[in-house]
Amino acid sequence: MTEHREPSIQVPEVAVASMNATHAEELGLIERLLAALDDEDAEAARAMAEDLAAHVQEHFSREERLMEQYGFPPYPIHKAEHDRVRPLVAGACAAADDAKGRAALARFLREEFIPWLEHHVATMDMATAHFLAMQGVE
Ligand SMILES: [Fe+2]
Ligand SMILES: [Fe+2]
Repeated sequence: MTEHREPSIQVPEVAVASMNATHAEELGLIERLLAALDDEDAEAARAMAEDLAAHVQEHFSREERLMEQYGFPPYPIHKAEHDRVRPLVAGACAAADDAKGRAALARFLREEFIPWLEHHVATMDMATAHFLAMQGVE
């Protein structure tokens, strides 16, 4: 086991508890995946990369269903941002089969996806949750 210097990843709380739960779950998955990648535990990393890819898709889709259901006006903008990031996550996670892909995945998570997620939650998710909470979504 190597020492993990990962500061625990945090995103701001939004006004909808179920969205916060999804975000916390996803951050946990990312932290465990990074630990497996750092440990060069290929088997675990592959499995967790698959879990993360599925989690991100469902995370985005659930927000989109809620926005549609409650008629959130900027829905297309929020969805477009999800749709831009979806293939990046899917591609990076699918590359976890070989060592080079796993190194690229660790880099992608640390340098692109985590900073993106922090910003996305603080902006689009924050505004969306504010609107949904006023419609009684928890
Ligand atoms: Fe979100
Ligand atoms: Fe979102």
